[in-house]
Amino acid sequence: MKIAVFASGSGSNAEAIIQATRARSLQAEVALVICDKQGAKVVERAASYDIPVYEYIPKNFASKVAYEEDIVQQLKENQIDFIVLAGYMRLIGTTLLAAYEGRIVNIHPSLLPAFAGLDAIGQAFEAGVKVTGVTVHYVDEGMDTGPIIAQEAVQVEINDTRESLTKKIQAVEHKLYPETLQAIFSLHKVEGE
Ligand code: GAR
Repeated sequence: MKIAVFASGSGSNAEAIIQATRARSLQAEVALVICDKQGAKVVERAASYDIPVYEYIPKNFASKVAYEEDIVQQLKENQIDFIVLAGYMRLIGTTLLAAYEGRIVNIHPSLLPAFAGLDAIGQAFEAGVKVTGVTVHYVDEGMDTGPIIAQEAVQVEINDTRESLTKKIQAVEHKLYPETLQAIFSLHKVEGE
């Protein structure tokens, strides 16, 4: 299973996934990282594992269709089977969805459908909920919508701050995402047999 990880920022989830593949707890190869933000830390992280990175600047393309066609070409050239969004802050359009139907997943730092969109951890903190968490889901054309695959709850304690809650959620993400991907890929294998 050759996967491409799409990321826009720090890339801590991308790194957790790469490490799981190297440890063989995730039987897949991260063959490409795609990044839409110049100077994002994920680029350095991927380079430190010798993983090729395709950086693109969306505004240099005439349209979303145009940059997604370009991405699809990169994915095909690298024989990518599956797309993993990890902090990729851009909606997936019809071009990518059609090319990788049923083969795109995302992670979101809340128990969806609660707190979709930007700053989900801040939204949950401000709302004063006592339980939030992490969701892994298939991607459709919506923002943080699409069938849910896995969720894990995180308790918000009385003395939690945004920062401490962020740390707890990230720790869950770094474990849940590789585990869920492994579960998905073993299923694909059985189906493909
Ligand atoms: C992660 O918390 C991920 O769940 C979130 O962005 C962060 C990226 O961190 N994604 C979303 O909010 C998607 N709507 P990372 O770059 O360190 O992996």
